Amino acid sequence: MTDAAKTGPAPGDDRGPLTNRQGHPVHDNQSQRTVGARGPATLENYQFLEKISHFDRERIPERVVHARGVTAYGFFEAYGAWGDEPVGRYTRAKLFQERGRRTDVAVRFSTVIGGRDSSEAARDPRGFAVKFYTEDGNWDLVGNNLGVFFIRDAIKFPDVIHALKPDPVDFEQKPNRIFDFMSQTPEAMHMLVNLFSPRGIPADYRHMQGFGVNTYKWVNAEGSTVLVKYHWMPKQGVRSMTEADAAHVQADGLGHATKDLYEAIGRSEHPEWELLVQIMEDGEHPELDFDPLDDTKTWPEREFPPKPVGRMVLDRMPENFFADNEQISFGTGVLVDGLDFSDDKMLVGRTFSYSDTQRYRVGPNYLQLPVNHAKNAQVRTNQRDGQMTYHVDGGGENPTVNYEPSIRGGLREAECPAHDEQGPEIRGRLTRKRIPRTNDYLQAGQRYLLMEQWERDDLVRNLVGQLSRCDRPVQERMVWHFLLVENDLGLRIGEGLGIRPEDVADLEPLAGQDLTEDDKERLANLG
Ligand code: HEM
Repeated sequence: MTDAAKTGPAPGDDRGPLTNRQGHPVHDNQSQRTVGARGPATLENYQFLEKISHFDRERIPERVVHARGVTAYGFFEAYGAWGDEPVGRYTRAKLFQERGRRTDVAVRFSTVIGGRDSSEAARDPRGFAVKFYTEDGNWDLVGNNLGVFFIRDAIKFPDVIHALKPDPVDFEQKPNRIFDFMSQTPEAMHMLVNLFSPRGIPADYRHMQGFGVNTYKWVNAEGSTVLVKYHWMPKQGVRSMTEADAAHVQADGLGHATKDLYEAIGRSEHPEWELLVQIMEDGEHPELDFDPLDDTKTWPEREFPPKPVGRMVLDRMPENFFADNEQISFGTGVLVDGLDFSDDKMLVGRTFSYSDTQRYRVGPNYLQLPVNHAKNAQVRTNQRDGQMTYHVDGGGENPTVNYEPSIRGGLREAECPAHDEQGPEIRGRLTRKRIPRTNDYLQAGQRYLLMEQWERDDLVRNLVGQLSRCDRPVQERMVWHFLLVENDLGLRIGEGLGIRPEDVADLEPLAGQDLTEDDKERLANLG
């Protein structure tokens, strides 16, 4: 009798038998085939080779940013109007039109800098990415929890991420590298004031806000456009952690926020967010003290009141973490009719980056995977083949015609919307310039002043803690920036580091830095 026969099913065991991927039954999953019990192994052992070589390929590259995250499913329900104003006045996107209309969604929450198994209690922005499976195809809204970002031009993204990631030599995340970069990047101040406040460590994913951050456009049936910013507000409220809370949570495990989401949805406590939009007439808005295409700025709510357009409920967790969470692929280029890009220089760069990395990370046919597939729309393309093609995208009546145009069947172009030109006319010469009205400090200072006293104290403590591990010139430049952000903030951080305003009064503005009159006045008063 062979070993295989000995390990076969017990009498009465009616579970399905194990097979390999070729459908061959596996009689013995305990021992490889060898010549004799102690023997050399044989290379033709297909079952063993298939198992081990598949295992060798179980990992795909993790996301270069936002590697740690969790996905959940649910629906978005439109309100159709705010007050007596129909949403259709601003956008023709179908998912927003009628009250009560539901669209399936998948949401992935994430941290940014750590790897796949890193701590979810880290001080780090959180990703808030929503995929709407609409009848017009998918729409992805890929945002964060802080409302602004470190930089305003996509060409700086690899640099800011390299500074925030671990040192390439000894793989340690170092404040001195982070603040070396930030001290030369005045537009980062608004983000830093948020990130080092308690909001920089959300209690979990259910209790945080989400923001589209970049400026998008809405297009209505007449082809008129407006600029919009998106906001997700949690019905559960917003909760954050101090560093001490986070240390405590982290000591108990690195994935508390993922666990919290699985457990809450498991208890049928379905988290809910309201989606609000701020709307601005399409244009440059010279009357504002910031550029509406600048993602380091928020839009004042008094002038641009957020309008509620729908709610989102998450009610189902994935059945397979890899298929649904590792392979899900979001991108800012994934829009539907009625929604559009603005010229925000971050947004344009992001739009290239997402699908580019996904073709590498997941593979060229990533959009055929169930989690990414536009399941509520008809997908009919002439794209064929490539690694891991899962099926032939719906074609025309003649399957040999995988090209267009043709008089032999195949696919035809879709009808154009009635207004295929939209938006203001744009003129300019090719150049490499910063946008005007950078105004890097004002909103950062306003944010500081809006904080409660304990939040300010926490912010100062966190920044002093990190900056005290930096070189003196980096500390001095950061104190210089914070004095321009808000005198009190600069004084307190300086005090924590032993740096007085007069110690930094002689520092010149950074090359190309565009200071406001108010900034210049603050600078003149430093000495
Ligand atoms: C993920 C690039 C700015 C939010 C990613 C990924 C890349 C990337 C390459 C990995 C995608 C994947 O592997 O599937 C960029 C570039 C940016 C930028 C080049 C700036 C030019 C931002 C900003 C936000 C943001 C400003 C927030 C508003 C996210 C989120 C994810 C992500 C939420 C995770 C998506 C998921 O859960 O799969 N980004 N990003 N990114 N990014 Fe960005």
